[in-house]
Amino acid sequence: MRIGVIGTGRIGTIHANTLSRHREVGSLILTDVDPARAQDLAHRLGETAAPGVDEIFTWGVDAVVITTATSAHAELIGRAARSGLPVFCEKPIALDLAGTLQAIGEVETAGTILQMGFQRRFDAGYRGARDAVRSGRLGRLHTVRALTSDQAPPPPAYLPQSGGLYRDTLIHDFDVLRWVTGHEIVDVYAAGSDAGPAMFREAGDIDTGAALLTLDDGTLATATATRLNGAGYDVRMELAGELDQIVVGLDDRTPIASTEPTGPPAADKPWTGFLERFGPAYEAELIEFVDVVRGGRPNPCDGREALQALRIAEACEVSRRERRVVALAEIAGAAGATVP
Ligand SMILES: NC(=O)c1ccc[n+]([C@@H]2O[C@H](COP(=O)([O-])OP(=O)(O)OC[C@H]3O[C@@H](n4cnc5c(N)ncnc54)[C@H](O)[C@@H]3O)[C@@H](O)[C@H]2O)c1
Repeated sequence: MRIGVIGTGRIGTIHANTLSRHREVGSLILTDVDPARAQDLAHRLGETAAPGVDEIFTWGVDAVVITTATSAHAELIGRAARSGLPVFCEKPIALDLAGTLQAIGEVETAGTILQMGFQRRFDAGYRGARDAVRSGRLGRLHTVRALTSDQAPPPPAYLPQSGGLYRDTLIHDFDVLRWVTGHEIVDVYAAGSDAGPAMFREAGDIDTGAALLTLDDGTLATATATRLNGAGYDVRMELAGELDQIVVGLDDRTPIASTEPTGPPAADKPWTGFLERFGPAYEAELIEFVDVVRGGRPNPCDGREALQALRIAEACEVSRRERRVVALAEIAGAAGATVP
């Protein structure tokens, strides 16, 4: 199998590494708007660099992995779909609902595969939580607390094209909240703060956000995120039910210190970022993509799933701006929606 990887930055490098080592993948063609970046990675992996995106489609590949900046995802998904090629694409599909629906429409019209990169679905902790909820071990779930805290902010140039904290970061919590609980979010109330470094205000973004979400069975959830958490990279989900409660992301590297005399010791080596925390999950989702392309498995996370997560992020942005509760029904793109 030959796979084209478009975008060889932080996450493209991780995925290309995984694919290059996969025994079912014969070769990779790598490309980037910065050709030196693609050439450098190709050289390190012993793969081929293409001068541009056109060559990915004209040289002939069996599948495409899209790891460019988000602004290029939708157009590339459409192009791959029109070429009849299966796609793995990093989240999100686009920063707006119209672009997202357009890309999904192209995939559905072509009848091709679009697997989205919500890697938490492949993380052992979140998988264990989903199993626990489904087994009934927790009893009726009443509260879920999700959080994502980056240790260090992304480069300033990343911010204006990221879509903001809700679409860029909390979208992972929204996706995995639906996936773990098996329930839809019906309304949200969200707030944000830009009281931290000036680069967030200058980009019109927030550095910290919090949302209260109501699920369709009445369960209450909170999701918080921050771009600057000195203690380390902290991704957790606590699920509390009438019978038991569990937590994802609590291990000997969780960057939190107990103030109790008998509490656990602080982590010696706290997590520092998503690349190390989710390394095994990034690898697992790409291995599964190869299986999906070979026809061995159903798509674990299609475009409609990504659309739902984006709709929740959109609702949070409206809520934060207008300081009110926003029903998901107010946001375009509900189930079965077609291209506007
Ligand atoms: N799943 C996750 O946990 C996760 C983590 C980080 C980033 N991401 C997503 O991955 C994507 C890339 O993020 P990143 O952190 O790797 O960014 P990055 O800036 O490190 O890399 C992006 C690369 O894409 C290239 N590029 C941009 N537009 C292009 C185009 N039209 N054609 C070809 N190359 C193009 C850039 O030159 C750059 O090398 C984003 O959509 C982001 O949301 C996902």
